Amino acid sequence: MAPNPYTPGQVPRVLAGRASELRRIEDRLARVVTYGELGGPLLVFHAPRGIGKTSLLRTAQARASELGFVSAWVACSRERPVLPELVRAVQTALEKAEALPRGGSGGRWRRRLERITLEVGVPGAKVQAQLATPPPAGEAETPAIGQAPIAALEGLLHDAASLVRDRGGAGLLLFLDELHVASADDMSVLLNTLQNLDGDRAHNPLAVVTAGLPVTPEALTRAATFGERSSFVALDVLNEVDARAVLTVVAEAVGVTWEDDALDAVVAEARGYPYLLQLIGSSTWDAVRPESGASIGMADVRAGLPAARDQLTAMHRARWGAASRLERAFLVAMAASERDNVTRAEIARRMGRESRAISVPRERLIAKGVIEPVGHGLVRFTTPGFGEFVRGLDEE
Ligand SMILES: Nc1ncnc2c1ncn2[C@@H]1O[C@H](COP(=O)(O)OP(=O)(O)OP(=O)(O)O)[C@@H](O)[C@H]1O
Ligand SMILES: [Mg+2]
Repeated sequence: MAPNPYTPGQVPRVLAGRASELRRIEDRLARVVTYGELGGPLLVFHAPRGIGKTSLLRTAQARASELGFVSAWVACSRERPVLPELVRAVQTALEKAEALPRGGSGGRWRRRLERITLEVGVPGAKVQAQLATPPPAGEAETPAIGQAPIAALEGLLHDAASLVRDRGGAGLLLFLDELHVASADDMSVLLNTLQNLDGDRAHNPLAVVTAGLPVTPEALTRAATFGERSSFVALDVLNEVDARAVLTVVAEAVGVTWEDDALDAVVAEARGYPYLLQLIGSSTWDAVRPESGASIGMADVRAGLPAARDQLTAMHRARWGAASRLERAFLVAMAASERDNVTRAEIARRMGRESRAISVPRERLIAKGVIEPVGHGLVRFTTPGFGEFVRGLDEE
């Protein structure tokens, strides 16, 4: 058979659509390339799981490298503080690009990076001490962030970006994926650092591109009020033309075509979700094992669907398994409505609680990316089929 060209759960071979989003990034890069200056405020792509945030950032990373950028990539995680990871990622990027000076000054750079890693890695102690003294009555409790980590990070990013530029590169590009899991302290340091770098933007040839779940904008604004001046871009499901392209472009590259009715069926089933398109494409391919020159028809799609649905059920099961009892009650109430967008009042009523009393499970489920707010107090599930899955759990 021709090799399976689909990539469920991995960066796609070809990114379908997303032209305007890529242009947003490229505009920032162009500023760095042309003026050698900071590429604007923090750029934040936000979307539920599986919509294509990481894929977009990875594609941008590849383009940026052609433009002469050195890029550092951080996948934020709850297990590790983000800022030391960021410093390490910058170091790795500089080393890979062979941008670090050789000899004695190279050694000084490495020692400095180690020191900065330590400096940005312990914001907790300082912040805790400051929070221990309650703010004067009437003053809002904004977390006080130590200046040391900001100054350390600012110095590092300035020097690293200048180093790249001085050696003939375009500048430094930072990617922070899964930004929503970064602590408020880390977000605050990052935002303050960027604000300071913007104060001297002509000498800071760098740009920062980030992605996270739909809670990210709110979390950033909470971490620092000026966080709201970041550029927020919501990623949506793919339109029909782009959804078809996800299936056809990589298949045609290995000599396999899709018949129209088969394509229509998969596009309808996936409802524009990139992950589902890749998943169904992949399971169809594995069921049929087409040779180059073959075409995929309706019968092939039917043969592949059960495996795709099993995989999806496993995902749903994992989300259900990670939910607390109260969150499960919330999900059951939400699923029972059988509508796409469900009001808070209806969920509360079905749970037999006051509307105000369901805030905690609601926030947690949003933070986990299982549901998302769609305005006016409405929420919906972030993956198609999850409501049906929950309704099917009648034994619970
Ligand atoms: N524009 C696209 N064209 C083709 N495939 C895509 C596109 N966007 C995403 N995909 C595919 O969809 C799946 C999910 O993409 P990705 O991991 O980038 O999503 P994500 O938003 O980062 O999800 P998560 O929040 O879980 O990290 C992957 O299998 C990827 O191959
Ligand atoms: Mg991702």
